[in-house]
Amino acid sequence: MEPKIIIHGGFFSEASDSEKVKLEKQQALKNIVTNAHEYLVSHSALESVIYAVSLLENCELFNAGLGSQIQSDGKIRMSASVMDGASKKFSGVINIQEVKNPIFVAEKLLEFEDSVLSGDEALSFARRHGFNYYNPETHYRREGYLEKLTESVRKGTVGCVALDGQGKLAVATSTGGKGFELPGRVSDSATVAGNFGNDFAAVSCTGVGEDIVSAALAAKIVTRVTDGFSLKDACDKSMDELKPYDGFAGVIAISAKGEVYFTDSHPYMVWASYIDKAEVFS
Ligand code: GLY
Repeated sequence: MEPKIIIHGGFFSEASDSEKVKLEKQQALKNIVTNAHEYLVSHSALESVIYAVSLLENCELFNAGLGSQIQSDGKIRMSASVMDGASKKFSGVINIQEVKNPIFVAEKLLEFEDSVLSGDEALSFARRHGFNYYNPETHYRREGYLEKLTESVRKGTVGCVALDGQGKLAVATSTGGKGFELPGRVSDSATVAGNFGNDFAAVSCTGVGEDIVSAALAAKIVTRVTDGFSLKDACDKSMDELKPYDGFAGVIAISAKGEVYFTDSHPYMVWASYIDKAEVFS
């Protein structure tokens, strides 16, 4: 099986992303997908999606890890999850603060029966397992917060789906949330609506978490593929179901047959794939 990997960097913000920032995001995605594909050649899909998402979290251009959006009370709370298609194990952290890579805390939780933790308890777990204090705030996000963040900048997440040389699938997703949300609000990114995979397909979503949860989007697409839909038909039908309520979402998807697909409800998603070579799309 030829290893394949797709990553996304959320949506461009029409309001705040200059042409320069757009180009920087595209170049960053190209570098990261190339690096992650090289890693995938000698690692499993599970290891590779975690690695790719950690690189995206470390890049301050994206709304995850470093550079996460700030919530209405001035604090950053991040969410991330990972799912191993073969074992069906899902783990994640919801609204964790002050760690560098939420995806690595999610990875650690794969070892535990209680595999999704939230808030202060997720942070206590992280500290007990060696994740040190880290402030993910950037100057750019503080400025945005001080401007009270307009509606149109509240869309961003990072994610990765991969198919490894053994035909195994995995998916990981990480976010700093919508920006300016109520403390305690739960993102889709550490739920099966935003991040889901099995033996048949793996899907990572970006967009407005409430819309993605209402559609049970990632889990629904994967279920449709499991029941015999092509990846494209499963994605298109599920995205059509967002239309009655103008749901705002984008997905990257991969199947065990090697199909890859992406689609977005609004044409601003930025994503990159490495199939035979690195390509960036938006
Ligand atoms: N998709 C990111 C969020 O709504 O939190």
